[in-house]
Amino acid sequence: MFNDKVRIIPYEAETHWAYIYQWYHSGKYDHFFGNMPSMDANAASTFNKGGVNYIIIDVNDVSKIVGMASINMIEERHRNCHLGTLIDESYQGKKIGTEATIMIVNRILNYDNMFKVIARVDPKNLGSQKVTAAVGFEQESILKQDVYYDGEFHDVIRMKITKGMFNKKYKSRRKKDPVEGHK
Ligand SMILES: CC(C)(COP(=O)(O)OP(=O)(O)OC[C@H]1O[C@@H](n2cnc3c(N)ncnc32)[C@H](O)[C@@H]1OP(=O)(O)O)[C@@H](O)C(=O)NCCC(=O)NCCS
Repeated sequence: MFNDKVRIIPYEAETHWAYIYQWYHSGKYDHFFGNMPSMDANAASTFNKGGVNYIIIDVNDVSKIVGMASINMIEERHRNCHLGTLIDESYQGKKIGTEATIMIVNRILNYDNMFKVIARVDPKNLGSQKVTAAVGFEQESILKQDVYYDGEFHDVIRMKITKGMFNKKYKSRRKKDPVEGHK
């Protein structure tokens, strides 16, 4: 059933910017944010390119924003895009990341007309590997020396889920638009 653990709402800079700023500056999610430009006031729009970034709210604590999902490298012609999900440290391990990713992938594949969603996973990031596998992503390739941090280049696992893969796994789950407030 949708909305079991989380609600997904579209990102709005005015309301949500402070949370993203806080995550960005915490130093805990450096690999997730990568080399984002410096976070001045105008940079809020960086996260909202195309208006397709989402905010994740725990249904048991609706006053708190617990995470975000960013969609980037959108290839409209080839109908694929990249997805990254971030759950605040204090809310991790409660299946919120898995649930939110299912809902957002459903949105992208069944409502935004994409064919494939790609996740770039750090081989050292066990949480990310478990979440993508649980959602139904499969390994597509290993991108050799594709990211630079800690003074060297590291491999990336490229994971994918297609519309067919998703809808086979979640037959009964895809009818209702999982994102609230979408036009
Ligand atoms: C990766 C992330 C989104 C997972 O979110 P989450 O809400 O904690 O994940 P879930 O609770 O749905 O956990 C799913 C599984 O991953 C495991 N897991 C989650 N975080 C983990 C971690 N840091 N280390 C090891 N295992 C972890 C959970 O124990 C669970 O395992 P199980 O299925 O065997 O019980 C979250 O840890 C995060 O935001 N990390 C920082 C940003 C990031 O790396 N994002 C991914 C970029 S692709």
